[in-house]
Amino acid sequence: MPEQSSSAAAVWSDPEFARAWLGADPQGAGDLLELPRRIAAGLVAEETPAPGLVVDVAGGAGKFLSVLLDAFPGARGVWLDVSATMLDRARSDLARFGDRVDFLMGDMTALRAAGVPGGADVLLSSRASHHLGRAELHGFYREAAGLLAPGGWLVNLDHIAPDDALWDRRYRSVRTRFTPPRPAATAHHHDGPLPTVRDHLDGYRAAGVNEVDIAWKAFYTCLFAGRTAGA
Ligand SMILES: C[S@@+](CC[C@H](N)C(=O)[O-])C[C@H]1O[C@@H](n2cnc3c(N)ncnc32)[C@H](O)[C@@H]1O
Repeated sequence: MPEQSSSAAAVWSDPEFARAWLGADPQGAGDLLELPRRIAAGLVAEETPAPGLVVDVAGGAGKFLSVLLDAFPGARGVWLDVSATMLDRARSDLARFGDRVDFLMGDMTALRAAGVPGGADVLLSSRASHHLGRAELHGFYREAAGLLAPGGWLVNLDHIAPDDALWDRRYRSVRTRFTPPRPAATAHHHDGPLPTVRDHLDGYRAAGVNEVDIAWKAFYTCLFAGRTAGA
């Protein structure tokens, strides 16, 4: 497992940390990321009205996957994460989908080895790839793109590093009005700088997903969406 990825995996595998993070994660109307999750489902629906398989990588409690499974009642889900605490929580939060969801334990930098099947209509991830360095991120996108069906969607909702000091200052000051800082016990260390927008867009293109855009952005969080060439 690559170094940055394995260090992040160790942090999230600590049950105390994972439970504290889950407890502090905003729910309901306070969860600003519900909008980009729904935008992602809407984009998929426009061109892929009946996806058969949705894979959520580093799925945590399964928030993103549940939006897609609600939007597409005929879809099956595959949930993957490295944390046993997240597995327990996802099994409980996704229980209403019954046997539509398969749960896999594994690392996001080794998807095939973890048993993620090919032919996915949507492979998504959220708030996890910022743990990867540029080379790891590109490796993740390459493997993820290879697991997509023709015309499949690669969707990533994640935090990015600012690459402009002026905008960083502006965002930093305004952001706290919308997203209060998390409790210290849930703050997690990052081994390297977060990937930039450019790192993500380059990664999509290097993986052959040339049709990519930032479908939503607020402060330091972006919804990257791209579709592979059709059949
Ligand atoms: C901030 S949480 C986000 C969870 C979920 N995707 C969401 O947005 O609600 C990060 C998740 O990534 C998982 N994770 C971190 N590093 C991982 C890795 N190398 N492989 C698989 N999962 C990983 C953690 O266990 C955790 O569930």
